[in-house]
Amino acid sequence: MVTRATQIGFILRPLRRGMSRIFEQFEWFHETSNGRIFNGDSFHLISNMRTSSVDLIVTSPPFGLVREKDYGNVQADEYLDWFRPFATHLHRVLKKTGSLVIDIGGAWNKGLPTRHLYHFKLLIMLCEEFGFHLAQDFYWWNPAKLPTPAEWVTIRRIRVKDAINKVWWLSKTPWPKASNRRVLQPYSSSMNDLFPVSTNGTDLRL
Ligand SMILES: C[S@@+](CC[C@H](N)C(=O)[O-])C[C@H]1O[C@@H](n2cnc3c(N)ncnc32)[C@H](O)[C@@H]1O
Repeated sequence: MVTRATQIGFILRPLRRGMSRIFEQFEWFHETSNGRIFNGDSFHLISNMRTSSVDLIVTSPPFGLVREKDYGNVQADEYLDWFRPFATHLHRVLKKTGSLVIDIGGAWNKGLPTRHLYHFKLLIMLCEEFGFHLAQDFYWWNPAKLPTPAEWVTIRRIRVKDAINKVWWLSKTPWPKASNRRVLQPYSSSMNDLFPVSTNGTDLRL
């Protein structure tokens, strides 16, 4: 099953092995020297991509919400069944060293001040059923989220508003191609204070 609206763009580099069929079959939306953006149904596109041809997939799929959005979200309870056909192709098209990064928001259970588990279930399904590895989990802090559900947050005041999306970094093997060198930050003074110095006096910081 595929949702209806199609806003997600795919940026594909023209010379990469495995893309030629896409370039022949699909109209593209924008092009630069770095590649082309396709604007279309991602399921249709990914099903036509070659096996083991992709280094990185970054996606913010429709979230499993209790209240449906215009672009056609599925219910949180049906989310895994909806995602499975995508998961098959996401796993198939990735190279052994490739990564799949999924930005996903949480949901509340209908009529209750409790959270749905669908995004955790998705993670477990992708690892246990499809063989992905959880390379790392990230949490995108978005303080601009509205104070909802109003019933629990602003009327009864028994919950606080949601403020993060989960970002699951999954890989086909435990050793995806990766480097942290372009995102390094200086050590803070309190971190510096905590760093041990080995018994022979060597500073262990890298
Ligand atoms: C959760 S939203 C992503 C929001 C986005 N991360 C942002 O911050 O604006 C999901 C998006 O996926 C699009 N979408 C839904 N089904 C799709 C499909 N089959 N192919 C491509 N895009 C799709 C929707 O139109 C919507 O824009």
